[in-house]
Amino acid sequence: MNTTTALEVRRLSPALGAEIRGVDLREALSDAVFEQILKAWHAHQVILLRDQDLSEDQQWAFGTRFGPLAGGHNRQLEASREGIAYVSNVRKDGKPIGILPDGEMQFHSDQSYREQPSQGSMLHAITVPGAGGNTVFADCYAAYETLPAEVQRRILGLQALHVYDYSLNPTQRGGRDVAADVPRHVQPMVRVHPVTRRKALYVSRLMTAHVVGLPDAESEALLSMLFDHVEQPRFIYSHAWRKGDVLMWDNRCVLHARTDFDPRETRLMRRITLKGEPVLAA
Ligand code: SIN
Repeated sequence: MNTTTALEVRRLSPALGAEIRGVDLREALSDAVFEQILKAWHAHQVILLRDQDLSEDQQWAFGTRFGPLAGGHNRQLEASREGIAYVSNVRKDGKPIGILPDGEMQFHSDQSYREQPSQGSMLHAITVPGAGGNTVFADCYAAYETLPAEVQRRILGLQALHVYDYSLNPTQRGGRDVAADVPRHVQPMVRVHPVTRRKALYVSRLMTAHVVGLPDAESEALLSMLFDHVEQPRFIYSHAWRKGDVLMWDNRCVLHARTDFDPRETRLMRRITLKGEPVLAA
């Protein structure tokens, strides 16, 4: 496309997300076109480009325009290049060929249990089930901004422990009493996005185990209230996949989850995970 043409950017839902049209990601993108994509990503938190058909190398070339990639949690299941993995329920000799194979997953932000969690992640849909297996996004800016002022003041000074044990069912929340080698990190409950400078709520049902310094019952009551708040339909975009979709989300200001799907149907996605960066406390 002509490098001076403005891209067509259409909102995907009242909450968040935008579709970008008129870009073929198999081609090398000019800096001017990439700048528009980056701007749309920062403005809309989730971007979608439909009808793409990318090889591993082409997806890697697009993904690395956003920054270096991060190795995942299971090197054996990564593709030929570090930072690329398959998310799939396909099995060979009884073993999944990819990560996060089956069914529902609760809301989370990728790698929030690491000191430097991933900035963003991208999925490219190769085979999708006839129904279900949606990826669902929640807007953490709006969630923070709509909390009562006294709750905002309270959580601004608090930190929470994030834990995730990949050997557990992805609908099971990590607890403080998981095995010692399970990765964990304490994070601010409200973070600042390094580009937009907006404040975002930073807790998730799947990975946030406990509020530091609070007794169990108080921690649990505060977290449950915040999980229910951020997961309200008014903050949500649910993406029903089509083959060829390339969708990228910003882990610094959205949570994502996955809906259930029929295990007899194939779901095959190629995923890229951007490298982490320090979390800025609000
Ligand atoms: C993930 O949490 O990264 C998986 C999302 C999905 O499979 O839709």
